[in-house]
Amino acid sequence: MRSMALINHKGGVGKTTATFNLAWAWADKNYKTMAIDLDPQGALSASMGHVNAEHGMDWYLKTDVPVRDIRINIGKNIWLIPPGSLLSDIKVSWGAHQARYSQRLHQLIVEAQESGMDFVVFDCPPADLWVIELLVGTVGALLIPVTPDYLALQGLSMLMKKLAEENDEKGPEVYVFLTRYQARKRIAQEAEQMLKQHFGSHLLEAKIREAVAVAESPGFGQSIFQYASRHPAAMDYLDLAGEIISRLTLQSNYSATYAGKQT
Ligand SMILES: Nc1ncnc2c1ncn2[C@@H]1O[C@H](COP(=O)(O)OP(=O)(O)OP(=O)(O)O)[C@@H](O)[C@H]1O
Ligand SMILES: [Mg+2]
Repeated sequence: MRSMALINHKGGVGKTTATFNLAWAWADKNYKTMAIDLDPQGALSASMGHVNAEHGMDWYLKTDVPVRDIRINIGKNIWLIPPGSLLSDIKVSWGAHQARYSQRLHQLIVEAQESGMDFVVFDCPPADLWVIELLVGTVGALLIPVTPDYLALQGLSMLMKKLAEENDEKGPEVYVFLTRYQARKRIAQEAEQMLKQHFGSHLLEAKIREAVAVAESPGFGQSIFQYASRHPAAMDYLDLAGEIISRLTLQSNYSATYAGKQT
């Protein structure tokens, strides 16, 4: 199994859109995939046709319910866990219950592995430090979508600082990839060069182009593959999905790995 979170402090960089399309790309290739909506706004759940589901991650983190009670089957090989109506309470009570919530997240990954999932992918809200603290000890990788503009690059340096504080050599792998890329814009090429210099091989080669079809498809409850399967942006997401499979380390025995991280 591979587990990862799409994170970036900055809003609107394509975290939710990438989570949605990556989950469908893997499910289409017969990988069992669980997409988890950690944003109380629930945009990922809405894209998957589940607006305002009452129970979800809020309930899972607060109680001892099993994953099967909160996951929703969306299609062949694909499941969603919505945020639930009280996920913002977790942020408020994070300081007091951090250890419990982290232990529950660990349990979720164990349950996902035991139920035969191949991918677990978290969509994160922007600007929430508690989410980073929750995920860093548990997921195998952090994927950071970046739009090619100066403000985004500036925001990225703040995020990297926070990750450097939280993360150590036992923590998740970190990868960056470009979204909403417009090849003809000079700023896009410059941003790509800067990211290459800074991140080297941790900048993924796949880039997601800016495309109206990508923005439109969730409105129809469809991934880019269902909405416009031959669109070049669909190929971009397929490339990204394939590159993630080849780059991310398999968590073959998650429980043991996690125990190792705790010592
Ligand atoms: N490749 C793309 N081409 C065109 N529009 C895109 C692309 N990717 C995302 N968008 C659009 O950009 C907007 C922001 O995308 P998205 O909601 O995925 O970002 P986000 O990082 O999850 O935002 P937030 O931080 O608010 O949760 C949406 O309207 C989405 O449809
Ligand atoms: Mg989002």
